Amino acid sequence: MESFTRPELIDFQGVSMTDTFINDWENIQNFKARPDDILIATYPKAGTTWVSYILDLLYFGKKNPERETLSIYERVPFLEMNFSFMDSGVQLAENLTTSPRLIKTHLPVHFVPKSFWEQKCKVVYVARNAKDLAVSFYHFHRMNKGLPEPGDWSSFLQNYTDGKMLFGSWYDHVNGWWEKKQTCPNIHYMFYEDLAEDVGLEFDKLCSFLSVSPSIEKKKEILEGTRFDKMKNNSMINHSVVPVMDFKISHFMRKGKVGDWKTHFTVAQNEVFDEHYKTKMKDSTLKFRTEI
Ligand code: A3P
Repeated sequence: MESFTRPELIDFQGVSMTDTFINDWENIQNFKARPDDILIATYPKAGTTWVSYILDLLYFGKKNPERETLSIYERVPFLEMNFSFMDSGVQLAENLTTSPRLIKTHLPVHFVPKSFWEQKCKVVYVARNAKDLAVSFYHFHRMNKGLPEPGDWSSFLQNYTDGKMLFGSWYDHVNGWWEKKQTCPNIHYMFYEDLAEDVGLEFDKLCSFLSVSPSIEKKKEILEGTRFDKMKNNSMINHSVVPVMDFKISHFMRKGKVGDWKTHFTVAQNEVFDEHYKTKMKDSTLKFRTEI
């Protein structure tokens, strides 16, 4: 991966994307969802892997030891991802033989293949507050050569504020999905901060949405296995097998905290961000917590 060149952002139908996530567009849009598919949708760094692994253990747990040898990418394919050096997300999803199939996407809601809506698939959306997400995404850009050059923190934050980020503006993403949820009962909208505060409660709500009733023992096992430190040390889950990521720069499972933004935002950056946030969110009923 030494020679891997970082991609540039492209304006794709009004959303900033990179080639990796649009070069298989026809196959993505024509993807045939099945009614029992579960789509895990997020803006990057909102807790996708956490919820993916919770669902993986919920449905497949220890029943299938072979699954333990598969990376999270293979268990929960990333639908729109298409690197030349591995199977595309669509291929990985189509190759799944499980029921349900767990599928991950970072697409803004209006880009989601229509078959997911036609088949009335259950969708779990996870959102995370804009400030912690910016910090997490910044470090992820630093260590992941599959993403555009982040520049320094202050220029990254400016681009993030302006919506010049892969998968577009955080504001458009969280609000777009939130609006869709108001008319679509198949969407369960979760928050990273709620998970961090009381994962057991969020787990119960998730199970109720999915109409599954695991035993107390199984719940305990899942919550234990999906703790930050456990996931960080699990090589099948912590993304250490992904060649474009340089763990010497930063870990995928980095800090796993609410409020880490305070160690990155200067007072001035925070004031400017808050002003901009107020304008962008003035018509939204969506409320985030930046500390717990
Ligand atoms: P940080 O970079 O703030 O540590 P995604 O999976 O959407 O890319 O999100 C990654 C973020 O979720 C990272 O945030 C990661 O540490 C955090 N995360 C993953 N699993 C977690 C867990 N079990 N508990 C808390 N945070 C977790």
